[in-house]
Amino acid sequence: MTKGEKVKIGLMGLGTVGTGVVRLLRAHEAELMAQTGMRLEIARILVKHPEKERSIYVPPHLLTADPEELLEDESIHVIVEVIGGIEPTRTYIEKALKKGKHVVTANKDLMALYGAELLKLAAEKNCDLFYEASVAGGIPIIRTLVESFTADRITKIMGIVNGTTNYILSKMTEEGISYEEALSEAKALGYAEADPTNDVEGYDAARKMAILATLGFHVGIHLEDVAVEGITHVEKTDINYADALGYVIKLLGVAEREEELTEVSVQPTLVPKSHPLASVSDSYNAVYVYGEAVGETMFYGKGAGELPTATAVVADLVAVVKNMKLGVNGREQVFPYHKKKMKEEDQIFTRFYFRFTVKDQAGVLAKITNILSQSEVSIAQIAQYPNQETQEAEILIVTHHASKKQVNQAIQTIGGMEEVKKAHSLFRVLKV
Ligand code: NDP
Ligand code: HSE
Repeated sequence: MTKGEKVKIGLMGLGTVGTGVVRLLRAHEAELMAQTGMRLEIARILVKHPEKERSIYVPPHLLTADPEELLEDESIHVIVEVIGGIEPTRTYIEKALKKGKHVVTANKDLMALYGAELLKLAAEKNCDLFYEASVAGGIPIIRTLVESFTADRITKIMGIVNGTTNYILSKMTEEGISYEEALSEAKALGYAEADPTNDVEGYDAARKMAILATLGFHVGIHLEDVAVEGITHVEKTDINYADALGYVIKLLGVAEREEELTEVSVQPTLVPKSHPLASVSDSYNAVYVYGEAVGETMFYGKGAGELPTATAVVADLVAVVKNMKLGVNGREQVFPYHKKKMKEEDQIFTRFYFRFTVKDQAGVLAKITNILSQSEVSIAQIAQYPNQETQEAEILIVTHHASKKQVNQAIQTIGGMEEVKKAHSLFRVLKV
């Protein structure tokens, strides 16, 4: 490629992220030209509804609903996929790679499920397949794990990696607004997925944690390996009680690897107010990485939204162009080289928070603490809030370190007590 030559891009999707990509390529044209020596030009844009009114102007002749107009166009060097979902995007990306086109995608659903095979195909075809925007929007965490931590052995990755749920929990905690109201705001702001079930049920975060754990630990982690619980069970009451105990509730992804055993989970977690992750609010994301040599590191930034996400997509484009100039596309990949061995429930130790509604009568608390003691679950904090009107009481307990198995067993037994009306929540508690 010679200086000043055009690199032609086929953009698939012109929604929140696609619009951001177009804006950024226009606004930073001179900087991108200076850094790559090339002109990045959008040659064609694939959308579902070409007639739809757009928030930015694009020449109408660029828009098409026919993917072949991008995939069959020999002059297009790079496909940027920002449609989302598994199909038809998987087919389009496969086809693009087989045609020798480089691919940049923001699609964590696809990369978490089919990333390994798509990356293999890309390597076979000497093509780049970059996906920086798929995890934590504008935070450059993928390239950091792949390139900057190569000298270290990473043993822990924790993250607030979903902007929508962090926005909802922050608004419920800080402004007292309802879950529904906060969710519709997150949708309007472009943070939520087309189907926000993936956000609120934790699957979006689980996919991102699978990607991060795979890259950080060099173990092929699949979505089925991740224990997932979303925020739909987090009640305002839990948020208030957690506050009184000195915590905020966050949807936290936790990935740990010790002695060849790996654990990856996403679940509502009580984070001590003094912990740096507690102050990550709104649509911000944060990823904490612990390396044996480097110790603690933390990366913070906007995890969703038009321009923050577009910065990651365009940075990938720049990386592709630089590789094109050097003729080294498709050479960067490191595939997982450790065997996968996931921890069993009796090997997963953490602190837990749980809450029950019980009949407010003598001996109930003693029975509960007795069951916990029989399961060797030690109590760190306990509180009881009686309700005069209903003759019921809310009991909440924070445990010391205990295994997931021990706690699940104890909770099942407590839930079966005649005096227990309802077992509400079981969340992880992060230690300071
Ligand atoms: P949007 O729903 O806003 O946009 C999707 C775009 O894809 C639209 O332009 C739509 O066309 C087009 N499209 C949908 N289906 C098809 C199809 N079958 N064929 C052709 N075009 C189609 O999505 P986002 O921009 O929010 O997200 C895109 C990707 O980026 C997803 O993978 C998402 O997970 C990821 N991502 C999103 C972030 C965010 O903050 N939104 C952050 C990080 C990653 P039309 O406009 O005509 O309807
Ligand atoms: N829906 C995602 C989120 C978009 O809320 O984090 C960014 O991946």
